[in-house]
Amino acid sequence: MSIRILGTGSALPKRRVTNEELTGMVDTSDQWIRERTGIGSRYVSTGETVADLGARACCLALENAGKSAGEVELLLAATCSPEDAAPCEACQIQAKIGAAGAVAFDLNAACAGFLFALHTAWAYVEAGIYTNALVVGSEVLSKLVDWDDRGSCILFGDGAGAVYVEKCQEGGLMGFVQHSDGSQGEALCCRGRQLDNAFFRQTPERGYLQMDGRRIFSFAVRQIPTTISEALGKAGLEAEDVDLFLLHQANRRILEGIAGRLDADLGRFPMNLDQVGNTSSASIPLLLDGLNRQGRLHRGMILVLSGFGAGLTCGAGIWKW
Ligand code: ACO
Repeated sequence: MSIRILGTGSALPKRRVTNEELTGMVDTSDQWIRERTGIGSRYVSTGETVADLGARACCLALENAGKSAGEVELLLAATCSPEDAAPCEACQIQAKIGAAGAVAFDLNAACAGFLFALHTAWAYVEAGIYTNALVVGSEVLSKLVDWDDRGSCILFGDGAGAVYVEKCQEGGLMGFVQHSDGSQGEALCCRGRQLDNAFFRQTPERGYLQMDGRRIFSFAVRQIPTTISEALGKAGLEAEDVDLFLLHQANRRILEGIAGRLDADLGRFPMNLDQVGNTSSASIPLLLDGLNRQGRLHRGMILVLSGFGAGLTCGAGIWKW
């Protein structure tokens, strides 16, 4: 038994911000950003929340699957940029879309969050607890980004992507691997966002996203090929059997490095980072939805979904579409 993806959806804020526009805010250039990252633009919220974007993506995923919100049994929201400590984003999305019968909760594993949530849905189905799930990755990172830091502000964007999954007897998720390494937490973090402690009259400083770009870069290029190979091994497959590698859209050069280490042609690594930048947990489902709606996914195709991010966390899942 496994789960398969029956529908996908995604949502972006209205406002698109080009590299050119960022040159008015920090000392950078369109050429530098394109050459070092592959990013050309990103979308930034002008009021859209994690729940707004997540709900839009979920509705489109349900419509694409031909399902109604009332049928959803489990709703998992992956995010590292919630607006509220409570209620969780998944419950806010549940209320917005009317998935009254679903159990809803959030999960935070940064850019690997969507994958970890998808694998959690698999575990619930495998255990016989639920038969379907709506899994969404949604982020409004623009409120965590230091827009004066040219090393990080050029990378990130806001958005959401969702999938509707259902129990299946064959195909679907064939194997997956997940890793976490808390000892490397400082490489990418956003501290001081906890609630003020009114009892002790403590008001912590609000931190912005801090990143050791080179360390993240080398972590991804070293760790992801091994993680993908491990997951392929679990599915009884090799890199040459894979039709498409859908990787977290962090940086074009990271994807080139991973493709090289896997000895796989870069043409099998679709990208949308030139348009949307790094959207953390939304990145993989946004890419998946784009391909699905372009008619580029065909039944029986082997897909690798793989992500990495703060924690540090990383994972890979092998899917038969
Ligand atoms: N514009 C112009 N110059 C810049 C910019 C910029 N936006 N940012 C940095 N520079 C300068 C630096 O100051 C440095 O100048 P110096 O040599 O005079 O000191 C020079 O460019 C080189 O800087 P590096 O940091 O070495 O540049 P690098 O080639 O490593 O690229 C980058 C930086 C793009 C951040 C890269 O390290 C990277 O992509 N790392 C991975 C980051 C990432 O993907 N993070 C998120 C993944 S996890 C998640 O998604 C949450």
